[in-house]
Amino acid sequence: MRGAVLTVAGNAGIRTFFQKYGMRLGVARFVAAEQLEETLEAVERLNKQGLLVTLDYLGESVSEQALAEEAAEQTVRVLRAIYERKLNSNVSVKLTQLGLQIDPALCETLMTRILNEAERTRNFVRIDMEDSPVTQVTIDLFRKLLSRYGRKRVGLVLQAYLYRTEEDRRRLGALGANLRIVKGAYKEPKEIAYPEKKDVDENYVRLVEAHMSQGCYTAVATHDERIIEKTIRFVQERGIDRERFEFQMLYGISTSLQLRLAQEGYRVRVYTPFGEAWYPYFTRRIAERPANLWFVMKGMFRS
Ligand code: FDA
Repeated sequence: MRGAVLTVAGNAGIRTFFQKYGMRLGVARFVAAEQLEETLEAVERLNKQGLLVTLDYLGESVSEQALAEEAAEQTVRVLRAIYERKLNSNVSVKLTQLGLQIDPALCETLMTRILNEAERTRNFVRIDMEDSPVTQVTIDLFRKLLSRYGRKRVGLVLQAYLYRTEEDRRRLGALGANLRIVKGAYKEPKEIAYPEKKDVDENYVRLVEAHMSQGCYTAVATHDERIIEKTIRFVQERGIDRERFEFQMLYGISTSLQLRLAQEGYRVRVYTPFGEAWYPYFTRRIAERPANLWFVMKGMFRS
């Protein structure tokens, strides 16, 4: 189903239609705002509810250097604003937004700019994981940046649906890397990714438990209540401190679960995307749960 939705979403006509009307039609459920100022207000609201945030300036697969540089500048502005307003938020970035596919050296320069600002403002930058053609180059650049800036400044995402992730996690665990574990949101072939959801879920639990057991900071990024309950049992049995891990969920998804866990004293971080380039992000949310299209349909009937 995910593959079919992502293929349809690639249609130019559908894309144009959504980009024109989407924000009005229900995309705002998943995207905080198009502008930074309104986004910061949303962060403030989430913080007041006891939720931590990671801000993502939307954009990916950038093919012009000027756009990659602009994305880096915007991320620097975000880090500055978080610092000045004393918000409880870090940032998430996608390397293909920062020119990875134009020139890895450009991407490294822009990441250096961002991480220098994170150093100055004592914040943290999480590198999202994108589709499999960029997995290795993303890990390579992350390792370089980790050796320069340390695990308090930079972390990475690994995807449970890829067969290779067990080994990637083991190697990064040996470096003490701060990892966010996700199931994986892209369309991948069965030669490299588990086709069955059950296998992805089992691998997810194995990865989380292995990373925590190694004493590494772990971001458990899922809305899967069964896995969340399992994680809670695991940390209780092992006596793992609540400061050593956090739950993460997406803006607008499972909001009552986010609040409940925060009220129970767990660290809960809301991945909060903003900006105008929301279409690919939005289509992945529909692909995960086609029922989300109802929100959009309802928006159409209202307008
Ligand atoms: P699963 O798909 O099994 O869903 C469990 C339950 O959660 C569903 O039954 C439903 O109730 C709810 N749910 C899940 N998705 C929903 C949706 N779209 N709308 C409404 N309800 C939904 N992926 C990636 O490849 N690279 C990355 O860097 C990231 N980063 C990232 C950060 C954070 C904080 C999160 C939470 C997720 C990601 N992802 C990601 C996405 C991830 O790979 C995965 O696609 C989604 O989290 C959906 O999977 P679940 O783990 O929620 O489980």
